[in-house]
Amino acid sequence: MGVSWNPCIFLIFSALLIVVIESLKDVRVTVPEAVRMRETITLQCAFDLEGEPLYTVKWYKGSKELFRFIPKELPNSKVFAMPGIEVDLSKSTRNELVLRNVQPEVTGRYKCEVSSDAPNFYTKMDSGYMYVVDAPIDDPSLTIDKNLVDIGDFVSVNCTTLPSFPSTNVSWYLNGIKVAPSSMQKLEVTPELSTSNRKYFITISGMELQITESTFQNGKAVLSCVAKLFNLYRGERKETIEEAKPRPRPSSVLGPRNDSSVSQRLKISNVGFILTFILLHVHR
Ligand SMILES: *[C@@H]1O[C@H](CO)[C@@H](O)[C@H](O)[C@H]1NC(C)=O
Ligand SMILES: *[C@@H]1O[C@H](CO)[C@@H](O)[C@H](O)[C@H]1NC(C)=O
Ligand SMILES: *[C@@H]1O[C@H](CO)[C@@H](O)[C@H](O)[C@H]1NC(C)=O
Repeated sequence: MGVSWNPCIFLIFSALLIVVIESLKDVRVTVPEAVRMRETITLQCAFDLEGEPLYTVKWYKGSKELFRFIPKELPNSKVFAMPGIEVDLSKSTRNELVLRNVQPEVTGRYKCEVSSDAPNFYTKMDSGYMYVVDAPIDDPSLTIDKNLVDIGDFVSVNCTTLPSFPSTNVSWYLNGIKVAPSSMQKLEVTPELSTSNRKYFITISGMELQITESTFQNGKAVLSCVAKLFNLYRGERKETIEEAKPRPRPSSVLGPRNDSSVSQRLKISNVGFILTFILLHVHR
């Protein structure tokens, strides 16, 4: 059927399409990706009516209408109550929606829908997602099963973040170089101080490391865990791992130590080390 279409009809049809597209243009929502709790924030909706009269600008959070601007009506604007959301009516305009004292519940997708007036009633929309962040109140904590190790050993380290919304991104670094975690767990928690039934998360990231010669720099290795929430929070904790039996190094590095006591200490840690090794292998 398409083959029998007159090219003229096709041209007229495309011209009509272009007219429709061009009569209400560029509806564009700008919302911050993430903001801190308790801030006042402005969501923007820019559009080009191309000469059409404006009928309404409507903002939705998810599928529910939150705010409406109608130039023909008095008052122009109207707020639809939503738990946890405070719209600043006096500062909101046809292009801006101002939210005060934002809380984690304000997190969500915000859609702006613009409609032109009679006779055409064109409607266009755009949306953006915004997080309201409640960051952890401190750095993450690290637990390590042993700090003195030898080549071939396995070391297990866990990094645990304090409750936050949303959950943090945890990364691991060995001597400053990023390494992949062995496990990642997100636990939902309800903080004791929380009055609402907010969902907070703690992240536990596990790192299992097999020690090789290249693990160490001057007999030491620094493991660090970095927790981030967008560009609003960064917490870090470091742990140093040392060789239980350092390989021979220039005497200047060892310093003015009593050699016999050093070698005695090494013998003792060696016994401990061999025991750990045996236990680990029996355990497996
Ligand atoms: C890390 O967490 C895992 C799983 O919860 C646990 O089995 C392991 O013993 C922990 N290791 C350390 C060093 O805390
Ligand atoms: C976590 O990292 C991903 C990938 O880099 C990024 O898209 C996301 O926004 C981050 N999330 C948080 C909470 O920082
Ligand atoms: C080194 O340590 C040993 C045993 O602890 C001790 O007998 C000896 O006197 C010490 N030597 C020096 C130079 O401190």
